Formats: sequence, structure tokens, C-alpha cells
Amino acid sequence: MPNGIDLVLADHQRVTALFAEFAETGVGAVVGQIVDCLASHDDAEHGALYPLAGEILDNTEDVEGFDVAHARIKRAIDDLRALEGQPLIDAVAKLQAAVSAHVEDEELNLLPQLAAAATPAQLDDIGTRILQVKQRL
Ligand SMILES: [Fe+2]
Ligand SMILES: [Fe+2]
Repeated sequence: MPNGIDLVLADHQRVTALFAEFAETGVGAVVGQIVDCLASHDDAEHGALYPLAGEILDNTEDVEGFDVAHARIKRAIDDLRALEGQPLIDAVAKLQAAVSAHVEDEELNLLPQLAAAATPAQLDDIGTRILQVKQRL
């Protein structure tokens, strides 16, 4: 059974690696992979992680606060769609800053709280739900 926290961390590592790849190569197709990775992660977190973490931690307010960060990231994605060259590089840097700040927030706050509060079975449930959400895409 997949542990939900491990799946979330794996997505974070994958998108971080894609940002590094774009910074190194400047290949435009990598931006498409970044956007796809972030869209599927957004679905997984809203469809599985956030609702279940809200129940387990009995705190839906903090979890709702993550919507603000995800909305900021979506706006940054919309902003870069039609760009190329240096404007695209600058827009990807802005997106990366928004993603890094939110990933850090999750990894320093939400995920450790969840790891401390959830049973192994609950973490497996979150993992299963994440995989189900991603399969529906
Ligand atoms: Fe998130
Ligand atoms: Fe995340």
C-alpha cells in the first residue's frame, strides 16, 4: 500500500527536478511537464490529501488556507502559457518561487503534523485515494 505522505513528497521531488532541468536546459517541453505535474498534484491534494488530513487533524481551516497558495500557483501557470524566450524564463522563475514556498510550508507544517497524528492505515488510505484521483485524470 502506498503511503500518502510518500506520494506527496515524490510529486514535490519530481517537480523540483523538472524546474532544475528547465533551468539547466531551457527546453520548452519541460515547462509542459511542470504544468502537467502541478495540475495532477493539485487534483491529488484537493481530492485526497487535504480533505482526509482535515478530518484526521480535525482542522479544516489550515487546510483551506492551502487553497490560497494553489490559486497563486494556478495564476502563475496561466501567466506563462503564451510566453517564450526570456519572458518565459522569468515567468517560470516566478512559478518556481510560488511552488517552492508552498512545498516548504507543506513539508514543514502539514505533513509532519499528519505523520504524527495519522495511523499507518490512514496514511495508506490517503495514498490509495491519491492514486484513485490520479487515475481518473
Ligand atoms: Fe499543496
Ligand atoms: Fe504539495
